Amino acid sequence: MALEALLGFDLPPLALVVAALFAILVVRSWVQTPGNLPPFPARPFPILGHLPYLGAATRDKLLELRKRTDEIFSLYLGGTLVIFLSGYDVMREALVKQAEYFTDRPLGGPSSLLLIQNGIVGASGSIWKENRTAVVQILKEFGVGRDIMSQKITEEIQLYLAHLEGLAGKASDVREITTCAVTNITCNILIGKRFAYDDSAFMELLHQLGEFMSLIEGGAMHQFFPQLQYLPGDLFNAKTLLKLDAEIMDKMAGFIKNTTGEGEDGEGNHSNLISAYIDKMNAKQSAGQNTVLSMKELERVAFDMMIGGSETSASTLLWFYLYMVHFPDIQEKFYQEIVTEIGTSKTPTGQDKVKLSYVNAVILETQRLASISPLAVTHRCTKETTVRGYTIPKDVIVILHLDSVMWDENIWDDAMNFKPERFLKDGKLFCPDHFVAFGMGRRSCPGESLAKMELFLFTVSLIQRFRIVPADPNCLPPRTYIKGATCPPTPFSVRFIERDTK
Ligand code: HEM
Repeated sequence: MALEALLGFDLPPLALVVAALFAILVVRSWVQTPGNLPPFPARPFPILGHLPYLGAATRDKLLELRKRTDEIFSLYLGGTLVIFLSGYDVMREALVKQAEYFTDRPLGGPSSLLLIQNGIVGASGSIWKENRTAVVQILKEFGVGRDIMSQKITEEIQLYLAHLEGLAGKASDVREITTCAVTNITCNILIGKRFAYDDSAFMELLHQLGEFMSLIEGGAMHQFFPQLQYLPGDLFNAKTLLKLDAEIMDKMAGFIKNTTGEGEDGEGNHSNLISAYIDKMNAKQSAGQNTVLSMKELERVAFDMMIGGSETSASTLLWFYLYMVHFPDIQEKFYQEIVTEIGTSKTPTGQDKVKLSYVNAVILETQRLASISPLAVTHRCTKETTVRGYTIPKDVIVILHLDSVMWDENIWDDAMNFKPERFLKDGKLFCPDHFVAFGMGRRSCPGESLAKMELFLFTVSLIQRFRIVPADPNCLPPRTYIKGATCPPTPFSVRFIERDTK
């Protein structure tokens, strides 16, 4: 009412809300900027902050900003101040040297529709720590000694390769089947069983996970513009995202219900994560220990494993296929190492990994150049501190600019070219600390060992049996990506030609 009187004309209610928000944000962005923050590249626009400044080519713009600043800079995304850590040393100074202040996730609260604060990915404090520790321990138990992880991956790969064989060398886009296979491995680890590729409930889950991942970036807009929640409609698909979240959570609850009581051999050994988690929870509860582990937490943990473990590994495999058609000589060298070290008929296992230096170097180079998770997951600074001499205010959102490290010309010679040899020293595998595909510090990816095993076994098993060739030898698929929380390559087709190894 006051604003209408001030402006001297009638405004419809929606316009009134927008005008009021505009006024508040303009004043806030001018008045509330604390001193000694990491540098801003330009003055923020009202309401939108620096979003128009970033434009459509966000990755290029952020790389340019990194060069122009002291590896650390501030941006207003909407009305929200965000600090970018953009360089290896600065990331280490925050995430490792001051880990106690940079480990939590952004706060939720009533203004944030989409921030989920339980499980692992979105949780902080003791909820995050206990869930994450339980999962890391379980994955370790599955990977070391008992080799359950490698068995489950190999089982899936055999069916995946049978599918590729069925394509009979026809040009195909294998994105869906690759995501299917990788997601099936996560399911197998979670519930101890896999699904047929045409199982309708599984296909529905895949579809929901894919849609969730494609909408999540839009959902982040609600983090930067909390006021959006008051507007009608479904701006940036926030409501769709919440609905999908509830649907996937329902599926996770179903997984848990059907798995409870299964997968334990009578001697305390478990063959699925759900049963192992419940066992840990029961042990703590019967010992009278205070614990956050619960069936509700387990649902979110299962969700996080599905989200964290599906598109990431699948996208990396797709980039590998793409690079292999671009660099046939590298593909041939990759194959020759397999022939020399494990032969053409033996099924590759986790134990073969140490023998294949060049193969491992190609996988690392794929991850480095593809840089599929360019901004990782947002962090929050929990206490005012300094990095590079700049003030990092309490509760500010902190973004890890992983591209800036993965593509840093000062670290990697000729960084934008595919050169696996950079990961070899005197013929032996050498991976510098600057390889940050899985993040850095306490939040770094808990699925790293699983992902590495998947990437190794998929690529080696595939190249042992098939040559990957372009659909059209005169026109290679472009090395471009789809923008999102993870960046898979834009859809492309290749042909998988069976090798004559008899
Ligand atoms: C090539 C494959 C993968 C890549 C490149 C990758 C990368 C990452 C990155 C960059 C982060 C964020 C780190 C941060 O917040 O600072 C992360 C977190 C996470 N990843 Fe992965 N990941 C991969 C595979 C997996 C797999 C297979 C799983 C599990 C099945 C998984 C589960 C998670 C979880 C649960 C988190 C959240 C960790 C936390 O908040 O403490 N990821 N990953």
